[in-house]
Amino acid sequence: MIRLHVNGKNVDIDADPTTPLLYVLRDHLQLNGAKFGCGLGQCGACTVMVDGKPVFSCVTPIAALAGRRVKTVEGLGTLDNPGPVQRAFIEEQAAQCGYCIPGMMMRAQALLESDPNPTPAEIRRHMNPNLCRCGTHMRILRAVERAAGLMKQAKGGGAK
Ligand code: FES
Ligand code: FES
Repeated sequence: MIRLHVNGKNVDIDADPTTPLLYVLRDHLQLNGAKFGCGLGQCGACTVMVDGKPVFSCVTPIAALAGRRVKTVEGLGTLDNPGPVQRAFIEEQAAQCGYCIPGMMMRAQALLESDPNPTPAEIRRHMNPNLCRCGTHMRILRAVERAAGLMKQAKGGGAK
């Protein structure tokens, strides 16, 4: 039994310690936001946050996560009350098929929590590991910029 901390709650998981976090999220916790793309740490569809950093959950065994904070796209907001990153992706219509989008949102969230004022070049560099097979990268980059603005508004802050 391994205790994980996911989206603010402790959960006890009965699974082999080598099980990838992605499988536990989807199969044990019914958190289906993170997606299986390559399973090899090469596409970013499975991206979640661990202790504020983006990680590929498909190659992260749950044994590495005791005492660490996992956040998934479900932890960013709800359908009725989406978080700033979720709102920005909706407003920019960043999704085409949508398969890559939860991972994109989590990578963006990690960036904006550590740097609320990234430059466009910094956003592009940070988002680079996550791929979109539909090619909506330009809309995704715009959504991340919009999310930065929404987060600043929410905090009552101004522009850089
Ligand atoms: S499914 Fe994890 S990086 Fe592709
Ligand atoms: S929207 Fe289809 S893979 Fe990105």
